[in-house]
Amino acid sequence: MPHAVTPEISVHPICHPEGTNVRCGAEIRGADLEDLTDDAFSQIRTALYEHQAVLFKSQQKLSPRAQYELTRRFDPSCTSYGHGKTLDAKKSVLHPDLKTIPHQPQVQVIGNGPVAEFEGLKNITLKHPHHKTFHATAVPEDEDRKNTRFYRWHIDAALYNLNPPRVTSLMAVSVPSSSKQTLRYDDGSDESISNVPRGSTAFVSSFAMYDHLSDEDKEFARTTKVQYAPHPYIWMSGARSRSDGLGMVSEGKELPRSELPPIEEEKICVLPMCWRNPVTGKLALQVHPSAVEKLILKDGSVIDDLAEVREIVHRLQRPGIGPENVWCVDWEEGDLVLFNNHGVLHSVTGSFEPEEVRIFRQCNLAASEPPLGPVEA
Ligand SMILES: [Fe+2]
Repeated sequence: MPHAVTPEISVHPICHPEGTNVRCGAEIRGADLEDLTDDAFSQIRTALYEHQAVLFKSQQKLSPRAQYELTRRFDPSCTSYGHGKTLDAKKSVLHPDLKTIPHQPQVQVIGNGPVAEFEGLKNITLKHPHHKTFHATAVPEDEDRKNTRFYRWHIDAALYNLNPPRVTSLMAVSVPSSSKQTLRYDDGSDESISNVPRGSTAFVSSFAMYDHLSDEDKEFARTTKVQYAPHPYIWMSGARSRSDGLGMVSEGKELPRSELPPIEEEKICVLPMCWRNPVTGKLALQVHPSAVEKLILKDGSVIDDLAEVREIVHRLQRPGIGPENVWCVDWEEGDLVLFNNHGVLHSVTGSFEPEEVRIFRQCNLAASEPPLGPVEA
């Protein structure tokens, strides 16, 4: 039964396919995002932290300004985009994926194909990320139209100098006519997800990911800190991802510090492995698996063997991205998804032909404070 919050706003959990156990996603109806009252925002915030990702339909008319204001409302003192200016670095693995709206620089345009004009951007060409540019192996060319992979499971975060944004808003402006693909893990597990809408964004709950752990692993996760590589998206630019998109293969291809921009030690991000939900108090296993460099254990000892660090993180996270846990959003034009960036991992999927036009607007803001960690015993 939908839960009526007020006469205007109601929250409807997404009906996920039978046999799955997805623990995120709800549709919010009746909210006026262009002119949001404090009361309406408070209801949206509660729903977001209860469902981790909330969908608003038919937002075609929402201005970039209102998208920014909705996003900023979760952290009113923030004003700068979640990656700051780090996208400017030509070597960053993020650089090709994002274009900035000139009159609303916290909002980025992502998508695919040639676009003559959009929000002041003229004659741009967008390129949907394809796993073949990031993974160590790829789906063979002749199978590529029908099959896809998770491109990169991640948190939206610079992970150097800036705090991870609390929320991200992602809006579908233009969506090419849909067809389905099979999503393959290609990791020896034989797991796959069929009928994934082409270009779907995949979400998993990091609270469910934590709940899947054994008691011993929960204790490890609660007491371990994660150190991220400085300038992580440049650092990882020579390396390649696992076929499940959940972290990198260890082949010694990360850029050495001498080839990175200047590093200030105090700007290196060290964050708890578990992040606490500010409304429910629950813990999420929240690690950016591609950017992790070291683990700092309860007793202060450090695991700095990169291959070992990645194996540990992958072992903890992999059950949480199993097919039964993934929400693959079937985007329609006007859909806006707002997600708890401290409580889900997400990934692009799919591939498009160069001429297929798809336009999305994305907004997140570097948070004013680090994420909440576990409550100290
Ligand atoms: Fe993202």
